[in-house]
Amino acid sequence: MSKKIDNLIKKMSIRDKARQLTQINADFIKTDMSVKDTGVSGISLTQEDVFACGSVLNFGDARDAEYIRAKYLEKSQNKIPLVMMQDVIHGYRTIFPIPLAIGCSFDLSLAEECAKMSAVEASLNGVDVTFSPMVNLVRDARWGRVMETYGEDGRLNGIFGAATIRGYRAGGLASCVKHYAAYGAAEAGREYNTTDISEHNLREYYLPAFQLCLKENPEVIMTSFNLLNGVPVNADSHLLIDILRGEWGFDGVLVSDYGAVREMIEHGYCPDEKDCAKVSANNTLDLEMMSSTYINNLPQLVEEGAVDISVVDGMVRRVLQLKEKLNLFENPQNRTDAAEADRVCLCPEHREIACRAAQKSFVLLENNGVLPLAQNEEVAFVGSLADEKSILGAWGCAGKPEEAVTVIEGVRKLLGKKVIYAQGCEGGLFPENGEIDKALKQIKRAKTVVACVGEHSYVSGECASRTNISLPEIHLELLRAIKKTGKKLVTVVFAGRPLILNEVKQLSDAILYVWQPGTEGGTAIAKTLFGLSSPEGRLTISFPRSVGQCPVYYNHFSTGRPKTQDTLEGQYYSSKYIDELNAPLYPFGYGLGYTEFVYRGAKLSATQMKSGEKITATVTVKNTGKTDGSEVVQLYIRDKFASFARPVRELKDFRKIYLKAGQEEQVDFEITEDMLKFYGKDAQLILEAGDFDVMIGGDSRCPVTGTFTLIK
Ligand code: GLC
Repeated sequence: MSKKIDNLIKKMSIRDKARQLTQINADFIKTDMSVKDTGVSGISLTQEDVFACGSVLNFGDARDAEYIRAKYLEKSQNKIPLVMMQDVIHGYRTIFPIPLAIGCSFDLSLAEECAKMSAVEASLNGVDVTFSPMVNLVRDARWGRVMETYGEDGRLNGIFGAATIRGYRAGGLASCVKHYAAYGAAEAGREYNTTDISEHNLREYYLPAFQLCLKENPEVIMTSFNLLNGVPVNADSHLLIDILRGEWGFDGVLVSDYGAVREMIEHGYCPDEKDCAKVSANNTLDLEMMSSTYINNLPQLVEEGAVDISVVDGMVRRVLQLKEKLNLFENPQNRTDAAEADRVCLCPEHREIACRAAQKSFVLLENNGVLPLAQNEEVAFVGSLADEKSILGAWGCAGKPEEAVTVIEGVRKLLGKKVIYAQGCEGGLFPENGEIDKALKQIKRAKTVVACVGEHSYVSGECASRTNISLPEIHLELLRAIKKTGKKLVTVVFAGRPLILNEVKQLSDAILYVWQPGTEGGTAIAKTLFGLSSPEGRLTISFPRSVGQCPVYYNHFSTGRPKTQDTLEGQYYSSKYIDELNAPLYPFGYGLGYTEFVYRGAKLSATQMKSGEKITATVTVKNTGKTDGSEVVQLYIRDKFASFARPVRELKDFRKIYLKAGQEEQVDFEITEDMLKFYGKDAQLILEAGDFDVMIGGDSRCPVTGTFTLIK
């Protein structure tokens, strides 16, 4: 710890220390009021408290940030600068696709580039730390925040989260990895609901993403709202002290989620705010976001010996060390620069990155050859989402829908001509009405129809869990009506989650899943529809056939009675439904392009692997189509027998390759011991001898390539 911080801590009163450990909305500083007047529930601060809080969140642009920082410093007693944090989740002002879409790009350098771009814009606008990456494992499409993760593979989430941290750092932004932990396992996919996960599954599936992110030394970690195994996470000393601080040695700042410290009363865990403060402080929760239990109770708790002053000083040290690392003592405005921010935000280079990210994240789910469209084809567009500006997705930060490019605008710009467009159904979050007959008349001349349907931006994200994840009925009616005309139907689906697409699959000649594509979504969709770019995305999350299958995910266990084949008939007394297949409609790793790839010659360099050695898995991939394209070659492994049952397969590596028409490439994967380890009893990472199946292919249905035996 620097002498400066040491001296500061020595001079601070216990109340000042408690204030330094509190994060409030920036509005409280702007409005000059003690929050008693603002009536914000669950928080009670004097004006002196407000101008001594350590951190703020939720503020405007550079000018706003400059004003807040200056006003705070002018009025604060101890002149310790603020650290300012914001939810820069998938872009600051230039919004790129939602993280789930970025995961589907299987392109880590793209993730890093997008993060760097957003960090440049955010840091110029006064942001010191972003509450990102969010790396929660999610397996349930009903949970609204599925849009914010990278998908259903915990390790892949961590790999993308780590790339995002690198990008943020390159752009001048500190990171906050969230939400530690297991928030995405909310029972029944209901937001903020209870989670209950064995230590084994926690270690195996829910924590690896955080461990991978920690390798990039994020400055902050955010704890989650949920109850985990009967204890609110902020009170879970096993998770926070034993694992995070102890085993993993994280010495950065631990911030709560919004009001979550005080919510331990609602959880039925703490009887009052004083107990909330005691429990959280003793679990080294350094920064209390938007509740004031520390300010109003820590002095007394220290007085009573319920919280040792050394614990409080340790928390203050971590917060002050964060400010020192960000050079805020020397330069309280950090990288804030309004003029430069005006120049950089939404600049052509950033719009190009956002467009490219969208193109690379789209997943082509079906195509009978109707795509790509010819530019001289008679095409009509229908659906309110074709002309919708709200395609930024949830957590759009400072992005403005009016700055987004709609599909119609993108197509019009690309083709340089008027586009036939008939809305056909109303817009909004839950559309019900439409003028379908009128639309059919308007598109009479068209041979091909592109229908833009799916979810509005704001029906996914925080507090947007859904029990019905089908398309709006009016959208399905529109598709049915178009199908009846005999025209070719290309369905473009906007969504923040997997939707139920069974009927859409039957009705459509092609399905392009564009997620929530961001500021340049319309430009990217136009380029993809008309073949200027080929869809590259592969699913990082399974698409259920029905919501009754949720949660459905690829790395599941076999069970003692696995189905030998996935049919409805027969298979009695096997693990099945009597009214639905087991498999998702579209599996993890799946996606089409505008060309075809053939895999051949898959083999292993050996059938035995000695401990400490490696073996190589090789395959040759050929582009047998007429156009250039990309393929994500995936390596899966199954540990066939172990002291803890292992999933039927787990993604262990992938390689995204670009091949010209007719070109082929040999792809080699190194299989190492680390890929074979798992958490055994006592949560120890272990390696067990035995047989392992290896599968290499273009999605999670690929067959077994070969088997090897690990010998210890
Ligand atoms: C929200 C979210 C969290 C976000 C925080 C600050 O409730 O759970 O992800 O970073 O509050 O906005």
